[in-house]
Amino acid sequence: MTCAPKEPGWKVNRSGPEAYEQYIVPAWMDEWAKALVAVAKLQPGQRVLDVACGTGVVARKAAIGLGGSGNVSGLDSDPGMIRVAKQYAEKEHAPFIDWQCGDALRLPFPDEQVDVVLCQQGLQFFPDKQAALREMSRVLVRGGRLAISVWRGLDRSPFLAVLSEVLGRYLGPEISQLFQATCSLPRREDLRHLLKAAGFNHIHIRLESKVARHPSFLPFLHGYISVFPFAARIAALPETDQAGMFGDITTALGAFMDDDGLAVPMESHLLTACKPI
Ligand SMILES: C[S@@+](CC[C@H](N)C(=O)[O-])C[C@H]1O[C@@H](n2cnc3c(N)ncnc32)[C@H](O)[C@@H]1O
Repeated sequence: MTCAPKEPGWKVNRSGPEAYEQYIVPAWMDEWAKALVAVAKLQPGQRVLDVACGTGVVARKAAIGLGGSGNVSGLDSDPGMIRVAKQYAEKEHAPFIDWQCGDALRLPFPDEQVDVVLCQQGLQFFPDKQAALREMSRVLVRGGRLAISVWRGLDRSPFLAVLSEVLGRYLGPEISQLFQATCSLPRREDLRHLLKAAGFNHIHIRLESKVARHPSFLPFLHGYISVFPFAARIAALPETDQAGMFGDITTALGAFMDDDGLAVPMESHLLTACKPI
């Protein structure tokens, strides 16, 4: 009698960008996008650029806020994110948004043509943050406005801290580093220094805290993990390791479940600044 290897229990069943839009955006990014667009104080007719737009949650809110006046562009280096951004903008009937695949360090826009630059949770991933901020300044008109959000440290984010520890243990330290990178610009003074050095003035940094919610923890965790390329490695683990890993994460986050499901706090800095006139 032959014994066929057992099928692993969990499989990746959607693309990373689709999982991002389906799980992370509603649980997390949507509320933060509202806050970022609010501090940007958009005015009718303005030209807005969302840098590192991902699947476009901020650009969509900006376009809806402008009510079809002005124009909104969304730029991301990941073509998969841009593909899903186009699909969702159409699905949500957002006013026209110009989607571009490109690098934040070499923005494909002319000098001084944008009134507001937005960037939600992108700055910490750019290899040269100063160069990216200088590019944002270059495309802004004089007096133009910048609004950026950046997570605080892993010590202020129980969900990411637990994933970093448990996934690092099962898959290796390079996976922990991904989560450390997400929270790698935690200090207000470092952010202020970066903005000043890129030539911005009227710098204002606000600390905000929100609770990320999802009605059911395991489906959220499975969806969250599907976003990352390492999901394929988890899908290839033996079923017992998968169960151990998901079990360890669930136990460690037990304190962040209430009667409505997952309720995990996240803290972010919201930065606004202006290009000098
Ligand atoms: C955490 S996601 C945030 C996405 C989106 N702003 C949101 O709020 O949902 C970070 C995004 O930064 C993008 N990104 C990373 N490096 C980039 C670069 N050099 N230029 C443009 N986009 C970049 C990634 O592709 C990813 O979509």
